[in-house]
Amino acid sequence: DWTMDAYREEAVRKIREQVGDSKVICALSGGVDSSVTAALLHEAIGEQLTCVFVDHGLLRLNEADEVVAMFRDHMNLSVIHAQEQDLFLGELEGVSDPETKRKIIGKLFIDVFQKYADQIEDATFLAQGTLYPDVIESVSFSGGPSVTIKSHHNVGGLPEKMGLKLVEPLRELFKDEVRALGHELGLPASFIGRHPFPGPGLAIRCPGEITREKLDILRKADAVYIDQIRKHGLYDEIWQAFVAILPVRTVGVMGDGRTYDYACALRAVTSVDGMTADYYPFTHEFLGETATRIINEVKGINRCTYDITSKPPGTIEWE
Ligand code: XMP
Repeated sequence: DWTMDAYREEAVRKIREQVGDSKVICALSGGVDSSVTAALLHEAIGEQLTCVFVDHGLLRLNEADEVVAMFRDHMNLSVIHAQEQDLFLGELEGVSDPETKRKIIGKLFIDVFQKYADQIEDATFLAQGTLYPDVIESVSFSGGPSVTIKSHHNVGGLPEKMGLKLVEPLRELFKDEVRALGHELGLPASFIGRHPFPGPGLAIRCPGEITREKLDILRKADAVYIDQIRKHGLYDEIWQAFVAILPVRTVGVMGDGRTYDYACALRAVTSVDGMTADYYPFTHEFLGETATRIINEVKGINRCTYDITSKPPGTIEWE
C-alpha cells in the first residue's frame, strides 16, 4: 500500500528527529496499538528502545507469556516483564466505581513506568500507542454540552514529575490504519488481527468489586468464548468479543444439586472505529452451544446471557 509505505517512512523520520540519541521506553501491552508503536520505534531507533510490559494481573489467560515471547523471539526487542499484579490488585481491593478503577490503574501505570524508566539510564521518552479516537477527548452531543464518557479519552499529557517526554507516533491514525501499518512493518497477521483490549483490562469487565476469584473465572470463560468464536470462523468478522462476569450470583441446577454461582454476559460487536458499534448477530445455535460449554467447563459460572445493546446507547465495555 503506497500511502502506508509513505506514512511509515515519514513516521520513522519524525521519530528520529524527535528522539535523537535519547533512549525511549515503550509501554507495551500486546494490543495492536502498542505492538505497532513498538515495531515502528524499533525500526526507527533500534537499540535505543526498551519495552516494558506491565502485568497488572488484569490480563487474559496466558496473555503475558505469549506477548513477551512474541516480542523477544519474533521481533528481537528488549522487553522487561514487570510483574506488578500484587500492586495493582491490592490498590483495587474494595473499589467498584468504574472511573475510580481507571484512575487507580492509570496512576499506578505511571508509577510503574517511572520505576522502570529510572533503571534505564538516560531514558528521556515514553512511547504510547495513542490513536486519533483517543485524542478526541470528549463526545459532543448535538445541542448539548461536551460530555466525557470514560476517562481514557482524556490524554492531557503525563504529570511533569515523570520527567519523560511523550512519543505518540499513531496519534493521527484510526484502528484500521494502524493495522495496515503493522502489516507494512511485518508484524504477524495473528497480532494485527487481534481484537482491541482496553488498558484497564479485565478490571472493566468485572463490574463492581474485583477479586482474584472472579478474575480467574472470567479468564476461563473468556478463553472458552474466544475459542468458540475462532472455531466457528467468526473472529475476523467481529471488532471485539469478550466475557464480562456479573456482580451477581444466581441459582442453577447441575446433576442432582443446586448451584449458586456467578452469571456472565457475552459481548460481541462489529464496529469501524469503536466510536459506534452494533451487537453481533450470532445464531441461536452458536449462543446455546457456547453457553453450554462455558457452564460445563468453567467452575463458578452457572448462567450466560448475551448482550444485545448497540453503541450508542450502550458502550462496548460494561464499565
Ligand atoms: P467503549 O466501552 O467506550 O469502548 O465503547 C470503546 C473502545 O475503547 C476501549 N476502552 C478502553 N481502552 N482504556 C483503554 O485503553 C480504557 O479505559 C478503555 N475503556 C474502553 C474499548 O475496549 C473499546 O475498544
